[in-house]
Amino acid sequence: MSVHVLAPAKINLALRVGSPRPDGFHPLTTVFSSLDLFDEIVAEEADDLELILSEDIPAGVPSGEDNLMLRAARALREAAGIERGARLTLTKTIPVAGGMAGGSADAAGTLVALNELWGLGLGTDDLLPIAARLGSDVPFSLLGGLALGRGRGEELTAVRPGAFHCWVLVLSSRGLSTPSVFAAYDELYPQPHEPADVDELIEALAAPDVREIAPLLVNDLQPAALSLRPDLAEIIDQERALATILSGSGPTVGILCADPQEADVLAGAMRAEGYEVVRANGPAAGTHVVTR
Ligand code: C5P
Repeated sequence: MSVHVLAPAKINLALRVGSPRPDGFHPLTTVFSSLDLFDEIVAEEADDLELILSEDIPAGVPSGEDNLMLRAARALREAAGIERGARLTLTKTIPVAGGMAGGSADAAGTLVALNELWGLGLGTDDLLPIAARLGSDVPFSLLGGLALGRGRGEELTAVRPGAFHCWVLVLSSRGLSTPSVFAAYDELYPQPHEPADVDELIEALAAPDVREIAPLLVNDLQPAALSLRPDLAEIIDQERALATILSGSGPTVGILCADPQEADVLAGAMRAEGYEVVRANGPAAGTHVVTR
């Protein structure tokens, strides 16, 4: 038996950041949107836990015991009180270290795939606390859709989407490390502060016209990411389509478009200019089992 699971990328439509808590994490008020860009995780019966990474995965992804998928598998075994093995195979589509929660998606995908393979019968409510212990973005990767995130991003409230969002994602050949972007943020804003609210965006998200949200997209990590990667300004400052925003801690940049046609044309034009771009739409499904 094998179980095939798809796990989505995300972009933060708003990412408001506060000064660090005693545990070092930053309190956030954020709005997540999943994107129809999915990593695939296949789980098969095996005696031990094994991980196979598809050949095109960049060297930056750890393949040893500290890989987030193996940590997810062990966390699930522990929570369920079982000793089972599995062979996990990962095929990546989400950019690595791109600020799109690719690693979190793979952890969420592992939880969903092994829950099915091992016949544990756990529901999303059972998996969410396990996901939260694995990483701040893993709970949202499970849920997908649109959600307000608080705490370090793991306290989620679903938001009903009013419109379909068409994106052109501009990728970067070099990734950015999330902890180093948060450290640069602390240097830029050393005074104690709470994260700003996202009430206006939440209201605008209910509207059927995507233009309502365009002026409200905001990412407090953008100046910090730019301090580490000044070259990103050239992409972020372009006034193309409706709005441009850094995805999470970067370096991927999302360009929000009015409709699929505008997004397809822009993606084609930017490719011709030499940019590496991907078309994606949101909000998309959360992590789910597919039939193969
Ligand atoms: O939770 P996760 O493992 O994804 O976080 C990676 C790193 O990002 C943390 O170790 C921390 O440095 C930083 N982070 C943070 N505040 C958050 C989320 C992440 O400082 N809310």
